[in-house]
Amino acid sequence: MVQFKNIEDLGALSNKRVLIRADLNVPMGTDEDGNPIVSDDTRIRSVAPTILHLLEKGARVMVMSHFGRPKGQVVPEMSLEQLAQPLANVIKKAVVFINDCSGDLVAETIDAMEDDAVLLLENVRFHPGEESNDADFAQALADNADFYVNEAFSCSHRAHASTEGIAHLIPSAAGLALEKELSSLENALGDPKRPLCAVVGGAKVSSKLDVLTNLVEKVDHLIIGGGMANTFLAAQGVAVGASLCEHDLADTARTILTKAADQNCTIHLPTDLVVAKEFKAGADNRIIGLDDVAADEMILDVGPASIDGLADMLKSCKTLIWNGPMGAFEIAPFDAATVALAKAAGSLTEKGSLVSVAGGGDTVAALNHAGVAGQFSHISTAGGAFLEWMEGKELPGVKVLEK
Ligand code: 3PG
Repeated sequence: MVQFKNIEDLGALSNKRVLIRADLNVPMGTDEDGNPIVSDDTRIRSVAPTILHLLEKGARVMVMSHFGRPKGQVVPEMSLEQLAQPLANVIKKAVVFINDCSGDLVAETIDAMEDDAVLLLENVRFHPGEESNDADFAQALADNADFYVNEAFSCSHRAHASTEGIAHLIPSAAGLALEKELSSLENALGDPKRPLCAVVGGAKVSSKLDVLTNLVEKVDHLIIGGGMANTFLAAQGVAVGASLCEHDLADTARTILTKAADQNCTIHLPTDLVVAKEFKAGADNRIIGLDDVAADEMILDVGPASIDGLADMLKSCKTLIWNGPMGAFEIAPFDAATVALAKAAGSLTEKGSLVSVAGGGDTVAALNHAGVAGQFSHISTAGGAFLEWMEGKELPGVKVLEK
C-alpha cells in the first residue's frame, strides 16, 4: 500500500512557517442585499482541523488557494479577500489577508503576525506561473515557508506550482483531510476487499469513457445508470425513443462490454425503466420493460425491479465506489432509483458489511438528497480529481507526497 508523508513526518513545528494549499474555490451566492456570500462552506470546514492542529503545535500558518479561473490575471472579483471572514468564522481565529502570495510582503507579514492568527494569501492563479508550474514561481512560494502542507485533494490532479512544484522544494506533507482521503481511496480501489462494485451514472458515456475503461479491469461488478445506460442499451439493440443517448458511441459501448466479459467484470444495465414524455417534476410516467419505449418517450430513471436486484447483489459485495446518479435525480419522481440504491448502500455500510466511497458534485448532492451521505464510509467533494482517480490516473499533487 502506498504511504504518504504526513504532518508528523515534518518534525517540530514550533515557530516554523507552514504554507497550506487549501481549496477555497467555494460556491458563492448573494445575500438579500446582493452581497456575495459563501453558499457551501464544506471546503473551508475541511481544511479547518489542519489549520487548528498546526496552530496548536506553535506553527505560523499561511493559507493559499485559487479561486475561479482568472488565467494569470488579477481579477478583483476572484480575490481571496472575500474568503477571509468566512475562514475566520469557521476556525474562530483572526485571519489576516494580504494581496499577494509571494514576495517580501508575505515574509514581513508572517514574521510580524501574532501567534494564533492565520495569514491568508491572495489567489495563486493571479500569477501566470501558477498554472504553468513555473519553477521560479514555485520557488517564490517556497521562499517564505519552512514546510508545505497539501490539503486540497480536489486540486491535486493539477500539476500547478502550488500543488506540485512547491512540494519538491521544501519538506512537504499531506494535511489531515488529505491523509484520510488518500487512505479511503486506497482501501476502495488500490487494495480493496472483494467483491468490489462500482456505480457509474450520469448523462454521458463520452465524459466517463476513461473511467469505464479503467473500472472494467479492476471491479467485479459495474452498475451503469443514468443517461449513459441508454447508450449501452441502444448499442445492444434496445429502442430508446427520445431518450438522451450517444448513438455514435455504440461501437465504444460494445467494446467496453466485450472487455468487461474478458476481465470477468459483470456489467449491470437496467432491466426495467421509468419513462415519460416530458422532462419535468411530476410528469406522467410509466414503468416498462426494455422493449416497450415509445418513440416520443424518454428514459428518466432505472426501474424498481432493477434496483431490487442491484440492492440484493450489493449484499454480497464488500466494497463500493460510486460516481453519478442512476436517473434524473434532481426531479421527482425520477430520483427514486438513485435514492433506493443509495439507501441500500448506506444501510449495508452501517451494518459493517460494505466499505462505500462516493465522490463528485452531483453524487454528493444525490446522496445528501437521499439522506445517506453520513452513512457512507467516505465522501469526496472533489470533482475532476475524483474522476481522474477513478480513471486510474496518477494525481501529480498526490504523487509528489509519496514516501
Ligand atoms: C474544483 O472546484 O473542482 C477545484 O477547485 C479545481 O478547480 P479547477 O477545475 O479550476 O482546477
